[in-house]
Amino acid sequence: SDSPVAPTRCVGPDYRSERQKPMATVSTRIESDNVTILPQTPQLIALLTIIRDKNTDRGDFIFYSNRIIRLLVEEGLNHLPTVEHTVTTPVGRPYAGLIFQGKICGVSIMRAGEAMEQGLRDCCRSVRIGKILIQRDEETALPKLFYDKLPEDIAERWVLLLDPMFATGGSAIMAVDVLKSRGVPEERILFLNLIASPEGINKFITTFPKLRVVTAFVDKGLDDKNYIVPGLGDFGDRFYTM
Ligand code: URA
Repeated sequence: SDSPVAPTRCVGPDYRSERQKPMATVSTRIESDNVTILPQTPQLIALLTIIRDKNTDRGDFIFYSNRIIRLLVEEGLNHLPTVEHTVTTPVGRPYAGLIFQGKICGVSIMRAGEAMEQGLRDCCRSVRIGKILIQRDEETALPKLFYDKLPEDIAERWVLLLDPMFATGGSAIMAVDVLKSRGVPEERILFLNLIASPEGINKFITTFPKLRVVTAFVDKGLDDKNYIVPGLGDFGDRFYTM
């Protein structure tokens, strides 16, 4: 196989010696300024270990997925523009800080992407959220746009595109094409994702060189059914039904 070998290394804070750190498989690296992989901390690896476990029940799967989604949203927000802004504190002193600049919205790729909406709402009060439904066309076996509902002023917003599993990249590429057709420039789209395949990520960043991806982990590859491996199985089934 030409898929990269997932690296196994010591995981833990810098103040611990290598001997004091447990070993775990960490994300495959991607050499691109447009791809941010969350720091491979013990917390993140432990959360991923729970949601990857086939014996994890639905309640735990939802709870621990939500924790990772929260980390993705918090990191995603760091990529949005800010401007310098000074306020006066109640003791009469100035504080030189920052304020967010620019309107945002979320767009979830149904169905699994909807699982990420709450994490976005928890961080951004009354954020607008649109939806895109893309499914495989039975006749052509290609992804097809079935439904979309997007804010009418989306062309003026930064878009946080939400889909937990980034496998072949087919639906994500189609979703970005839809956003661009509504006037959203590529550089204002941020794709938030839990687990990506190297194939999907590489195709995506060559197709859209200005778009940014924030992911928790890039896995080893895809199997013959286009499931991410080692992956976590079908995210939508585990979040909504199992
Ligand atoms: N979608 C999923 O839910 N899981 C995969 O492994 C790939 C796509």
